[in-house]
Amino acid sequence: MRRPIDPSALADLHAQAFDPGWSAAEIAGLLDTPGAFALAEDQGFILARALVGEAEIITLAVVPAARRQGLASRLLEAAIVQSLALGAETLFLEVAEDNAPALALYQKAGFSQVGRRRGYYARTGGAAPVDALVMRLTLNR
Ligand SMILES: CC(C)(COP(=O)(O)OP(=O)(O)OC[C@H]1O[C@@H](n2cnc3c(N)ncnc32)[C@H](O)[C@@H]1OP(=O)(O)O)[C@@H](O)C(=O)NCCC(=O)NCCS
Repeated sequence: MRRPIDPSALADLHAQAFDPGWSAAEIAGLLDTPGAFALAEDQGFILARALVGEAEIITLAVVPAARRQGLASRLLEAAIVQSLALGAETLFLEVAEDNAPALALYQKAGFSQVGRRRGYYARTGGAAPVDALVMRLTLNR
């Protein structure tokens, strides 16, 4: 999982998981922020940040053909290990309320909902914006 991170490769993976995906420049910019790190495999990656005791998942993407094989769970676990190594005690994330696969993944990993951001995610085609659920995991291992 540890290898030199190529923002272009991450952008390719991101575009297969999100519409619109993030550009290589956007990903490089995020990686340049304090505490940011990415962990990648060939078919998915996680981008996170750990700073002054708190960590957050910025994005997590697995290509459609590789889903339901445990890759996101492995990436999440690796990010937890890295966050602990960087001194984090809690891990936060935001997930769209209508993203059932991600919600199931995070609930299985032990996250619980601690907040809600109303209308946080815009939707295309005139659909109503979707709330973000703020989720937290205590890292006390
Ligand atoms: C969400 C996502 C990262 C999951 O990746 P994945 O590699 O398929 O996840 P895993 O195989 O590790 O799944 C772990 C658990 O999550 C849950 N889960 C994952 N996908 C699910 C689905 N489609 N339906 C129901 N539960 C699901 C299950 O509990 C699963 O365990 P199981 O397979 O033993 O039942 C992937 O679907 C994805 O990239 N989606 C688009 C981008 C996205 O939504 N990212 C998260 C944004 S917050």
